[in-house]
Amino acid sequence: MGLDSQNVLELVSNSLSAEKLRHTIGVADFAGDLARQHGLDPERVRFAALLHDLAKEIPLEQQLVLARRWNLLDYPEDELSPQVLHGPLAAYCLEHQYGVDDQEVLAAIAHHTLGFPGMSCFEMLIYSSDLVEPNRDFPKVDNLRQALYHNIEQGTLVCMEHSLEYLKYSKKQIHPLTILTYEDLQRRLEFGT
Ligand SMILES: [Fe+2]
Ligand SMILES: [Fe+2]
Repeated sequence: MGLDSQNVLELVSNSLSAEKLRHTIGVADFAGDLARQHGLDPERVRFAALLHDLAKEIPLEQQLVLARRWNLLDYPEDELSPQVLHGPLAAYCLEHQYGVDDQEVLAAIAHHTLGFPGMSCFEMLIYSSDLVEPNRDFPKVDNLRQALYHNIEQGTLVCMEHSLEYLKYSKKQIHPLTILTYEDLQRRLEFGT
C-alpha cells in the first residue's frame, strides 16, 4: 500500500492521541513554511513531518521488542532510553509495511530525535521543527525559530545547543549520536563543507 497525503492524515489520526496529533500538525505546518523559505519541496517535507512520530505512542516495552526484532538497536543507550527508538521504528515500518521508498524522508523520520552525522537540510528541517513548532513554548523559542528562518544549518546548530544545554541542566543522559551530530554540524559550518 502506498501512502498519499490523504491516507497519511488518516494513518496518523488513527495512531496518535489528540495532543500528539496537534504537535504533529504543528511540526508539519512549521516545517512546510521553512521548506518554502529555503527552497525545499514543502509537500515532501510535510509528508515526513506528519509521519515523524507515528510510532511514538507504541508502549515502550513493545518498541524495544520491535527494535530488537528489526535489528535497530545500535547503541547500549538505545536500550537504556527506549524513547529514542520511535523514529527508527517509524521509518522501518513505513519502508517495510507501507512501501515508502523516499530515502531522505525515511532518514528524516529515523533521525528526528537524536540527529545523525551528515544530516541533509531536509533532515535538519524535521529535526528542528520538532523542537520549535508553534505549540512549543519555552524561553527563547522565538530566537530559535528566527535562526531557522535565516539559515537552516546555523539554526539547527542553535537548536542543538539549546537541547544539549537542557539535557545537561536537567542531568539527563546525552546520547552519543547527538554529540556526534553536533560535532559534525559544527565542523561543517566551520569548514563550509
Ligand atoms: Fe519524536
Ligand atoms: Fe515530535
